[in-house]
Amino acid sequence: MGYFGNNKFKFGLFAMNCAGGQTPSKAPERWKAKWDDIVTVAKLGDDVGVEFILPVSKWYGLGGESDFQKWSFETFSQSAALGALTERIGLFVTAHAFLLSPAFAAKAIATLDHITNGRGGLNIVCGWNPAEFATHGSTIDPGNRYERGREWHQIFMDLIEGKPEFEWHTDFYDMKGLVTAPLPVQKKPPLMSAGQSSDGQAFAAEIADILFTTMRSFEHAKDTYQRVEKLAAAHGRKPDVFVQTQMICRPTRKEALEYAEYYAVEMADTQVVESFAKVKGSTLSKNAAKGESVADKGVLSTINAPTAQRYPGIWPGIYPVIGSPDDIVDELVKISATGVAGSALIFLNYLEEFPYFAQEVLPRMERAGLRTDGINA
Ligand SMILES: Cc1cc2nc3c(=O)[nH]c(=O)nc-3n(C[C@H](O)[C@H](O)[C@H](O)COP(=O)(O)O)c2cc1C
Repeated sequence: MGYFGNNKFKFGLFAMNCAGGQTPSKAPERWKAKWDDIVTVAKLGDDVGVEFILPVSKWYGLGGESDFQKWSFETFSQSAALGALTERIGLFVTAHAFLLSPAFAAKAIATLDHITNGRGGLNIVCGWNPAEFATHGSTIDPGNRYERGREWHQIFMDLIEGKPEFEWHTDFYDMKGLVTAPLPVQKKPPLMSAGQSSDGQAFAAEIADILFTTMRSFEHAKDTYQRVEKLAAAHGRKPDVFVQTQMICRPTRKEALEYAEYYAVEMADTQVVESFAKVKGSTLSKNAAKGESVADKGVLSTINAPTAQRYPGIWPGIYPVIGSPDDIVDELVKISATGVAGSALIFLNYLEEFPYFAQEVLPRMERAGLRTDGINA
C-alpha cells in the first residue's frame, strides 16, 4: 500500500463523480460533477498530498428535487483518466461486486495500476439498491451478499496474484479459463470494503485492507474500530477503518454554523434520504435487522428515522465536522483518537470549499502531528 504513505490520519476526496456529491441538499451551488471541476480538485488534492480519490458506484439516481446522483461518471474510466492527469494520489475504483465479474475487475484494476504506475485501489461494494441491479438485468440477493462477496473476492485475488489458469464451479459462480495478464504493478492494490452493518464489518475484517464505513459519534467510531480489530485478529489481519466526514470549514465557527444551517437544514433534500432509507430497509444484511450491535442499531436508525438528525441535509452516517480551521482539527484529533485511520471528505461544492480546507486545515493537521509526510511543511 505504498501510496498511502506515513500520515497517521489519511484523507480522501469522496463522491466527486456524482452530481450532488454525497450531500442531499437543494442548495443551487451544490456539486454538479462537471469533468473540468473534478480535474481541478483532483489536481489540487494531488499537489497537497491527499492520499486518495474515491468515487461512488452509481447506476440509478435517488431522485428528490435535486435529482440526486442521476448524473454520475463510471468509476474505472474516471480513475484511469484522473490517473493520467495526476502524479501521486491514489485512485480507487468502486466496484459493485455482483455487477462485474472478478475477471473484468482484475483486468481493469491491472490496467489502472499500469496507467498510474501503481496507484490503483479497489473498493468493493456488495450493493443495496434493487433498481441499480435492474439496470443490468440483475437482482440483489441481500441475505447472501457477503457469502457471495467472499467467493468473488477469492477469485479476484487468485487472478491478480497470478494463479495459473483455474476454474470455479459453485452455486454462485460457474467460470472457466480464469487467468489474467498483466498483473497489477503493485503486488496487491489496496482493497477497501464499504459497509456499515455487523455483517459488513465481519466481511471487511476478513478480506479488506480498509473498512470504509459510517460514523455517528466518537463512541460509534471507537466501537467499530475495536470490533473490526478483534474480528480481523482472528484471521491474522489488521485492516484500517476509514470514515466519512462532511466538512464545513469557514474562517469563523459562526460562519460555518450558518452555512450548515443553510444548506443542510433549510435546503435539505429530505426526499432523497427518505427514499434511500425505504429501499435500504428492504435489502438488509442478515444480522442488520436484529439490531443487536452498535453497528446494526445504526443501520436501523437510518431506516426508521432517516432525517431525524441535527442536519437532515447531511447523509446519515456521515459525520459533520463544522467550524473554523482550528475547530476542524480539534475534531479530527478526536476522531483519530478512536483508532480511525482516515476519512473520505465530503463538501457541498468541492471546487469552492476544498482549496480553503487544503490551505488552512492541512498545515494545522501537520502541526497536530497527524500528517507529517511533509508536503505542507
Ligand atoms: C461508506 C459506504 C460507502 C458505500 N458506497 C457504495 C457505493 O458506492 N455504491 C453502492 O452501491 N453501495 C455503496 N455502499 C453500500 C454497500 O454496498 C453495502 O452493500 C451496503 O451498505 C449494505 O451493507 P451493510 O448494511 O451490510 O453494511 C456503501 C456503504 C457505505 C457504508
